[in-house]
Amino acid sequence: MNNSTPPHVVELRDVRLQFGEKKVLEGVSLAVEPQERLVVMGQSGSGKSTILRLVLGILQPTAGSIFFQQYEITRLKRRKLQQVRTQIGMVYQYSALLSSRSVRDNIALPLEELTTKTRAEIDRIVDEKLEMVGMLATKHQMPSELSGGMKKRISFARALVMDPELILFDEPSAGLDPVISSVIDELIISLSEQSKVTSIIVTHEMDSAFRVGTKMAMLYRGSIIEVGEPEKFKQSKNPVVAQFLSGSTEGPILEGTNDAIATK
Ligand SMILES: Nc1ncnc2c1ncn2[C@@H]1O[C@H](COP(=O)(O)OP(=O)(O)O)[C@@H](O)[C@H]1O
Ligand SMILES: [Mg+2]
Repeated sequence: MNNSTPPHVVELRDVRLQFGEKKVLEGVSLAVEPQERLVVMGQSGSGKSTILRLVLGILQPTAGSIFFQQYEITRLKRRKLQQVRTQIGMVYQYSALLSSRSVRDNIALPLEELTTKTRAEIDRIVDEKLEMVGMLATKHQMPSELSGGMKKRISFARALVMDPELILFDEPSAGLDPVISSVIDELIISLSEQSKVTSIIVTHEMDSAFRVGTKMAMLYRGSIIEVGEPEKFKQSKNPVVAQFLSGSTEGPILEGTNDAIATK
């Protein structure tokens, strides 16, 4: 294999991860190109959030390597990792806003903690990001006053605040009604095009996956069993992919085996 600096924004090479006896990833390889929106699909418990945590360097793989641009995340020292992580925005599954801080203060937090910008500069950036997600009017509100869809938008603004090269979205439409969920998907597309950012979106919702993805990957039993452009992916001959796309009860995916890798 070629070991020179990869040209990809993100690359996972034969990544393995187990928690104790439990194998979650058994050789995941994936590459994400600039401005791509890679959707990683998979059943609940298949290891999607785990992949995002590995890319962020919050988790260390049992084996294999993970690259972000020229950096091998898995080999970085703590301080360098923290610095590199500022170029990666993360949108958590349930927004994860701090309930004790206003919208403005939630978004300002990374700037306050990681930069030496003045209050005036921070306010300007907060306004700009809130404007991008259409939420400027909520600036002085508390998260508890906002709907799920509004909190999601605020969490997008927070992920954008450091002008990242890469944004990771964990189940961005989880818990939202279908209409709001489509609006949020549209926002993912417009933000990523406007900011020329690359993204990885993990989801188990097919409609959402095909709305936002420019490339699709399916995680099943610890590995990527299919990857490709949406049209090609839809025509996959893999019976697991076909069953997942159709939501059929007939096929190789069985109820009760949604834990990463069923006992063999
Ligand atoms: N810190 C952890 N310790 C032990 N097991 C974990 C931990 N994090 C995740 N898991 C297990 O790994 C599997 C994959 O989890 P996760 O990545 O959260 O799945 P998904 O996001 O696809 O629903 C699950 O079986 C989960 O219980
Ligand atoms: Mg998850």
